[in-house]
Amino acid sequence: MTSDGQYIAAIDQGTTSSRCIVFDADGRIVAVEQQEHRQIMPQPGWVEHDAAEIWTRVRSVVTEALARAGLTSADIRAVGITNQRETTLLWDRSTGLPVHNAIVWQDTRTEALCRELGRNVGQDRFRRETGLPLASYFAGPKIRWLLDHVEGLRERAEAGEILFGTMDSWVIWNLTGGVDGGVHVTDVTNASRTMLMNLHTLEWDARILESMDIPAALLPEIRSSAEVYGHAVGELAGVPVASALGDQQAALFGQTCFDVGDAKSTYGTGTFLLLNTGEKAVNSYHGLLTTVAYRIGGQKPVYALEGSIAVTGSLVQWLRDQLGIISTSAEVETLAATVEDNGGAYIVPAFSGLFAPYWRDDARGVITGLTRYVNKGHLARAVLEATAWQTREVVDAMAKDSGVTLTALKVDGGMTGNNLLMQIIADILDAPVERPSVTETTALGAAYAAGLAVGFWPDLDTLRANWHREAEWTPRMAEQDRDREYRNWLKAVDRTKGWID
Ligand code: G3P
Repeated sequence: MTSDGQYIAAIDQGTTSSRCIVFDADGRIVAVEQQEHRQIMPQPGWVEHDAAEIWTRVRSVVTEALARAGLTSADIRAVGITNQRETTLLWDRSTGLPVHNAIVWQDTRTEALCRELGRNVGQDRFRRETGLPLASYFAGPKIRWLLDHVEGLRERAEAGEILFGTMDSWVIWNLTGGVDGGVHVTDVTNASRTMLMNLHTLEWDARILESMDIPAALLPEIRSSAEVYGHAVGELAGVPVASALGDQQAALFGQTCFDVGDAKSTYGTGTFLLLNTGEKAVNSYHGLLTTVAYRIGGQKPVYALEGSIAVTGSLVQWLRDQLGIISTSAEVETLAATVEDNGGAYIVPAFSGLFAPYWRDDARGVITGLTRYVNKGHLARAVLEATAWQTREVVDAMAKDSGVTLTALKVDGGMTGNNLLMQIIADILDAPVERPSVTETTALGAAYAAGLAVGFWPDLDTLRANWHREAEWTPRMAEQDRDREYRNWLKAVDRTKGWID
């Protein structure tokens, strides 16, 4: 099955794996290939990735996906990139080698640095200019940590020998030639997660760089999310590299949430709920982030409010890998279905502190309500409910910040295959949950943006027409039960606080 430039490829470089998905003009999947990479955890709270390993995996999934579909680079009109956000890498411009493992978004090693920046510069300053609270989640403090801890790195960075990038920049630089002319760019959505970009000018903010002591020579050029950055070499030789979007923004795009008030929630390692606020960057007073949703070429940027939840799917993995209560992630659904309720147990997975709406680096995970009655089925149920309650907290914050009450939630991501979880979310939100026919919305969003950039798709309406609902769950829980359970959840959240001095 080959045809001339009738497909768009998307590379999705995620937290646990890298994937290449090839789409046709109707947004249907033609081929998927996926490979995991190692999670390196040198000490509690630290999470790293080997970026060289990631690049090897990316190349390999591209090769395999093309082979699986019987395609060559001539069949691919454009390639788009989407990626785990905030994960921070510095590499040597002339050798192409990383100077240290990438520091992953979940890593909390910069807690003390963030507290110090808060004391010296003030929380408000960062929120005002970048839309983000001062937290170890974001890339800027991670860059500073690397400059402070890798011998001789600061001098080399100041001399222009070192490049910084989130995974979009790393993949694009390598894809377009690496040391032989690779382009060093990022897009506005990824740049909006560094804590170094001014949200209003969409440029690196010189005063913030100065207050974090980060040399500008490191930084990639900030470009739109949908334009041709360069052309690929290697397996995709000659193919325009035509989009980059952080994975959550890509999912918003893939769900065709193009109108003000459209929202989606992606259930992966963590969960990220984004609400399109249009050309207005809405300030949050209730613990959300203000972020760039996308920018298509020279058009005006579109902003979003985001509720970021650090741990949802990774709690299921923890149940599997650290406790051994289940042997596959899918088993959590069967196990949770063996019981009627949580048996009084609540799990608050504050493994990386608490993200939205609390932003507490000092929080650590708790299991509360234990009695001898509680069995592993109840714990599995509490794991699923933790995802739903965290979603509820973010939805409540969004209603307060935006005045928009959710009428339905579009969902996607790996966890949405869990039908019991989808029902629990509908119950706890008291709103319908809708799953689209293509749940690979992250890769689809990157493909859509790349396709728009090269004229493969003419406009947003064509993309909207590709969205179809595959399943819907409606709320069934009695109001008094929901309210009682929510109070219990909030009591459990309260117990997570204050574990780090
Ligand atoms: O902000 C982190 C987010 O981009 C990670 O997403 O799907 O790789 O867990 P995911």
